[in-house]
Amino acid sequence: MCGIVGYIGHRPAADVLLRGLQRLEYRGYDSAGIAVMNGTLAVHKKKGKVQDLAHLLENVQVDGSLGIGHTRWATHGFPSDVNAHPHANPSGDFALVHNGIIENYAALREKLVAEGRTFQSQTDTEVLVHLIDRLWDGGAISLEEAVRQALQLVVGTYGIAVVSAHDPDLLIAARKGSPLILGVGEGEYFIGSDAAPLVEYTRQVVFLNDGEMVVVRRSGYEVRTIDNVVLNKEVHELEWDLEQIEKGGYEHFMLKEIMEQPVSLENCMRGRVQPAENTLKLGGLIHEMDRLRAARRIVIAACGTSWHAGLVGEYLIESLARIPVEVEYASEFRYRNPILGEGDVVLVISQSGETADTLAAVREAKQRKVPVYGICNVVGSTIARETDAGVYLHAGPEIGVASTKAFTAQVTVLAMLALKLAEGRTISQAEMAHYLQALAAIPDKVRAVLETCDQPIRQIAQVYRYASNFLYLGRGYNFPVALEGALKLKEISYIHAEGYPAAEMKHGPIALIDQFMPVVFIAMKDSTYDKVVSNIEEVVARKGSVIAITDTDNGELDKLCEYVIRIPATEEFLSPLLTVVPLQLLSYHIAVMRGCNVDQPRNLAKSVTVE
Ligand code: F6R
Repeated sequence: MCGIVGYIGHRPAADVLLRGLQRLEYRGYDSAGIAVMNGTLAVHKKKGKVQDLAHLLENVQVDGSLGIGHTRWATHGFPSDVNAHPHANPSGDFALVHNGIIENYAALREKLVAEGRTFQSQTDTEVLVHLIDRLWDGGAISLEEAVRQALQLVVGTYGIAVVSAHDPDLLIAARKGSPLILGVGEGEYFIGSDAAPLVEYTRQVVFLNDGEMVVVRRSGYEVRTIDNVVLNKEVHELEWDLEQIEKGGYEHFMLKEIMEQPVSLENCMRGRVQPAENTLKLGGLIHEMDRLRAARRIVIAACGTSWHAGLVGEYLIESLARIPVEVEYASEFRYRNPILGEGDVVLVISQSGETADTLAAVREAKQRKVPVYGICNVVGSTIARETDAGVYLHAGPEIGVASTKAFTAQVTVLAMLALKLAEGRTISQAEMAHYLQALAAIPDKVRAVLETCDQPIRQIAQVYRYASNFLYLGRGYNFPVALEGALKLKEISYIHAEGYPAAEMKHGPIALIDQFMPVVFIAMKDSTYDKVVSNIEEVVARKGSVIAITDTDNGELDKLCEYVIRIPATEEFLSPLLTVVPLQLLSYHIAVMRGCNVDQPRNLAKSVTVE
């Protein structure tokens, strides 16, 4: 949420910042701005997309090789030119960009106003600017010292970058609760909310931790805590490369990521699923397996799509490994005084590894001395670093705001985990061999779904693109997939959609069914199939229009449904990995046909770093 970029080096800073903001735009896109130092600070900012800022800059010469930039997702103050970042102090001595929320901003603002200070914007960020300005006091102390002291006065979260009009060789950045990394180049350095703006220039990075601040000059950098303790930080090598963060010929990141799933799933299973040797390895949890197997209860906490993956995980772990699982919305978890004790373990799932609510759940569990494990995609992310151990998805960067390939990779990791927990306990060697074969066959089956279903789904999208409501129904392992299908549609096409367990329909939602209600059923030929067909009958009897996703050819569904999408069969517990794909495509095509901005849906942003 909000993207920050900073640069100090020898290149034209405005170019680096603008390109960086374009790569970070998935984190927020209601306004954007840059501040570049060239003797004085040139601040340019604009309501709208980064493209609008780029147009503004076409007619201005912005020289200088030091600067900061920001793309905003509004929290305090509506999107406008004035509320856009960077924010400079009243006399233009320094400028600052901020991601996060200053929670005590109202009290601080009141105090600052009483002192005679005037505010230009409605943002919480401007409070921080005035605090720094007051402490800096025209140069009474150094800017870095003023920043450090000001940060001690604010409550809340921040990732900030600051440049001075008086020092052409100084870039300051700090974080607490909002991610920030330093890219280390040759005589040049980069700041980014994530790796996207940096990978083009360097793969050497330093991950800043909460409460840390970095002072960067062209000759080097120094990291301190905001309590002024000098730190010796390790430099890490990034896994991502440039190609992975570009669209690669696709119209949208979301489509690219949907289409990438066969490969992302192969990567997720590489070195882990080995059917030839009948082995399954989850290196990141290897030392935790005994504790997990002995767990009295596994509590899964996550948000959004990752929560849906967690629900599939509940079904997987309970049915394969017979260990009780509870799935919690991370955003509710810590506010309801959760009962956690001896024998409980917490498992959090997060693509970005930065979601504030999920991070809060990690901290809550750690405070209660319960082991916490993570399933994350972004290597080195805060959740990945703060959990006791975990498993990476290896799905590659996910940039489309609507999560797709992360979901299938999360379910794959959960399936591997469930099998690993079941190994030698609740499933036999022979069953394990069979299941590993089935897992290894999934990427090719996803490939087949993408090849055969895309065209028919476009036709279905054409028919239903103007619907106002959709219902998604599934049972067992495919109930969470129904929720996920509905979420995808809501997010990017703004059509209201509900996901339900198919049999729950008769307890209420059936009242909604009429000829204007498209109902998507997941009707795989598994243990729930006959019951699901009865539910389809109930919808058809009320003139609902049914689209079915199935693996059967028995003709029964063709008689009942308006459209039948056929996908390959697999083990019941693996079916979410296939059934979700047509639903991703359906939401994508409907959104495109409705003229929606698929990669930048309104009001949303990737990586929700505020609570
Ligand atoms: C939906 C979506 C969100 C995220 C949620 C959690 O398409 O992207 O619902 O799944 O914000 O994000 P992570 O997984 O990064 O913690």
